[in-house]
Amino acid sequence: MNRGSPSPERIVTVFGGTGFLGRRIVRRLLEKDFTVRAVSRHPERVAALFSSDARAPEAVRADILDPAAVTLAVAGSHAVVNAVSLYVEHGNRTFERVHVKAAADLAAASRNCRVEQFIQISGIGSDPRSESSYIRARGRGEHAVASTFPSVIIRPSVMTGPDDTFLTVLVRLIRVLPVYPLFGNGGTRLQPVYVGDVAEAISCLIDRNDPGGSSIFEFGGPHVYTYEELLREIASQLDIRIRLTPMPFAVWNVLARVAEFFPGAPLTRNQIDLMRHDNVAAADLPGLSELNIVPRAIREVIRMIEQANRSAA
Ligand SMILES: NC(=O)c1ccc[n+]([C@@H]2O[C@H](COP(=O)([O-])OP(=O)(O)OC[C@H]3O[C@@H](n4cnc5c(N)ncnc54)[C@H](OP(=O)(O)O)[C@@H]3O)[C@@H](O)[C@H]2O)c1
Repeated sequence: MNRGSPSPERIVTVFGGTGFLGRRIVRRLLEKDFTVRAVSRHPERVAALFSSDARAPEAVRADILDPAAVTLAVAGSHAVVNAVSLYVEHGNRTFERVHVKAAADLAAASRNCRVEQFIQISGIGSDPRSESSYIRARGRGEHAVASTFPSVIIRPSVMTGPDDTFLTVLVRLIRVLPVYPLFGNGGTRLQPVYVGDVAEAISCLIDRNDPGGSSIFEFGGPHVYTYEELLREIASQLDIRIRLTPMPFAVWNVLARVAEFFPGAPLTRNQIDLMRHDNVAAADLPGLSELNIVPRAIREVIRMIEQANRSAA
């Protein structure tokens, strides 16, 4: 297939098309005139999500664990994106089942349906040898997918934007807590990236339609912060004097274990696992700059979050 304007036959199917990242990928692809299928277990959510957009995707019902539904969703697609997440295990929905087996099954269905491009969303730090079952499954998933279909693996750092579960929470808590607890001593390095920049990058990769084998991209924002520096940056942006205190990871783990029982799991053990290690894009892997994307500064993203909070109030 040649590069250039997408034709109506270039259908892109986005698993996780209702998610924080997935819905933005869908939106950017529609803006670039692709025909888009947004796959969800709850297709009625698709219509609601895109009701005020100029164009809406086709809503397709499929659970990634259901091979027949997956094949139907994928058939006829030019490209498939796997932006399905699982942050807390429930019953048969384990990290291994969703991030390894189902991801590989989706890649196999895409290969059998002669899809041209497969994009697997993973994360920085994914490691098949990790002691964390979550990080290990993400690493094993990358291998399982890439050995099934020559894929593009996308590893974002922690993603930020209105409705995120990271920066929005920090902004809210910094406003109310008299003393803010650090993860450990707050020295973990992060490179928060605006979710819209990641969605733009993925839409560019689909538009470019590069031939060839598997590749890995790591996407980080414009600045690397320690966790402590990030909290101070947010507080300065909000014009708040912040008091910080170290808190051991073991205590965070206990809190996360409890929080996972609450709806929406405000804190999860895999988040704690991820916070134990630096989450910074590798200098030797391609990133946003290779796609000519200038990442948005965190100050700008905080302003967007504040504006979204005001509109929702
Ligand atoms: N958020 C971050 O900061 C971050 C950072 C690095 C990497 N990532 C990775 O980026 C990807 C997207 O994350 P996100 O934060 O955008 O996720 P999210 O907001 O939690 O969205 C998850 C999506 O997965 C879909 N989904 C879940 N289980 C499914 C199943 N069994 N079958 C079909 N669809 C299913 C959901 O669709 P329905 O509920 O509508 O069915 C939803 O659209 C994930 O791989 C995540 O690990 C995220």
